[in-house]
Amino acid sequence: MTHASIKLDKDRVIAPIDPRLYGSFIEHLGRAVYTGIHEPGHPSADANGFRRDVISLVQQLSVPVVRYPGGNFVSAYNWEDGIGPVEKRPRRLDLAWHTAEPNTVGIHEFAQWCEAVGTEMMLAVNLGSRGLDAARAFLEYCNHPGGSAWSDLRRANGRAEPWNVRLWCLGNEMDGPWQVGQKSAEEYGKLAHETAKAMLAFDPSLELVVCGSSNPEMPSYPQWEATVLEHTYEQASHISLHMYFNNRAGNLGNYLAQNIRLERYIETIAATIRYVKAKKRSKRDVTISFDEWNVWYHSREADKPILRGEQGWPVAPRLLEDIYNFEDALLVSLIINSFIRHADVVKIACLAQLVNVIAPIMTEPGGAAWRQTIFHPFALASRLGRGKALDLQVSCGAYQADIADQVPQVDCAGVLHDDGGVALFLVNRGEGQMPVSVRLDGFAALRLAEHHELAGHGIKAANSLQQPEAVKPVAGQGARLAEGLLSLTLPPLSYTALRLAP
Ligand code: AHR
Repeated sequence: MTHASIKLDKDRVIAPIDPRLYGSFIEHLGRAVYTGIHEPGHPSADANGFRRDVISLVQQLSVPVVRYPGGNFVSAYNWEDGIGPVEKRPRRLDLAWHTAEPNTVGIHEFAQWCEAVGTEMMLAVNLGSRGLDAARAFLEYCNHPGGSAWSDLRRANGRAEPWNVRLWCLGNEMDGPWQVGQKSAEEYGKLAHETAKAMLAFDPSLELVVCGSSNPEMPSYPQWEATVLEHTYEQASHISLHMYFNNRAGNLGNYLAQNIRLERYIETIAATIRYVKAKKRSKRDVTISFDEWNVWYHSREADKPILRGEQGWPVAPRLLEDIYNFEDALLVSLIINSFIRHADVVKIACLAQLVNVIAPIMTEPGGAAWRQTIFHPFALASRLGRGKALDLQVSCGAYQADIADQVPQVDCAGVLHDDGGVALFLVNRGEGQMPVSVRLDGFAALRLAEHHELAGHGIKAANSLQQPEAVKPVAGQGARLAEGLLSLTLPPLSYTALRLAP
């Protein structure tokens, strides 16, 4: 087929999109915190030592929530190390990434940064080396107004008002052999259940996230999710999934089909949630927090010496500094489309991570900050993709890939805006141009308000400190909208974002 046709019906709504679908993640890892978000002495630093140039780029991504402080890091982290006078804070060895943690940034500083950005904290508690007691103390420290030992300590440390953090992750990737304090599903399920009970006794309105599998290749997947949910179904609001992607094989068609893998993962866990719900005769719904996802492979080889300890215990070394290219930006676009199409069950998703570490934003210490290729589709979708996810009918050609026999040439997602307008996100996976016609049913008269294209780059093209704008969206051309029919031509290998307004 050399043409794609799409039908958009205003009444075919999948679900409201939770804005937290456009969340992100900052871990004490590499240069995410130190020289990433925090660099006192940088020309753009604010009074708290946070880089204003980075804050401004993060604001362009409109991330409503940021997960912190890990990741693998959290599984041997003492949150108390990051409070009180900075000069008295201990320097610790971080076992996850073989680095040293100075604890210059802790919960107070991270909360200040979130306030400066305008985002919410999503905090993880350590269920690896620690457990229920540390979790309940951290919660009381963060959320209790005062009149208890932990909350008064927070006040004494300079923060009178509680932060009132709503979202809490109960550990991280607890099925992984790489995790400090790895557990079986039974062990973790019981610990998460007891921890959740204690946290909900403090505040029953909290949203708690229990660990699912680290990825669908784990030997215990998907039994892990069933077991963990059997222990925690009545307490958990969300189950966490993670997935990272690579194009090591260098096959573009297979690479751009990888969001199908993601969708199978989501759909399997959605079915597992329904299974446990039925088994428990429960009235509650548990949803998915896809709180780590991204492309991650470019830096793996370079990171090995540090991870093997060959450089001792450095502070904030360059780790996981993937440089993203144009094909990675296309895959990120496809993944976001998949999340939009699964907005009924995926309520939170965190691009992992935000700055320097497998990140859309890169910085040089003392120097500039710039946008990687993947920044652009995320920023467009985060800005235009708020509203209700629409169930589109798409008819187009397909190709065969390792993951599926029929991979649609055109991938698309649609979002109904509160004002009656609509956003469309289209990825052309093919190497030829693709004429598209979109039939709009049930909408008032709309006009083409925005048309952005990320296209025309070599698949390995990337941005850098020297060329920060080599890959960026440009205004699309030639789209026509008349009498409920939108016509346009997608460039080869491209991402297109459109806003139609009343
Ligand atoms: O995001 C990098 C790491 O990937 C996280 O620390 C961990 O949770 C995952 O394995």
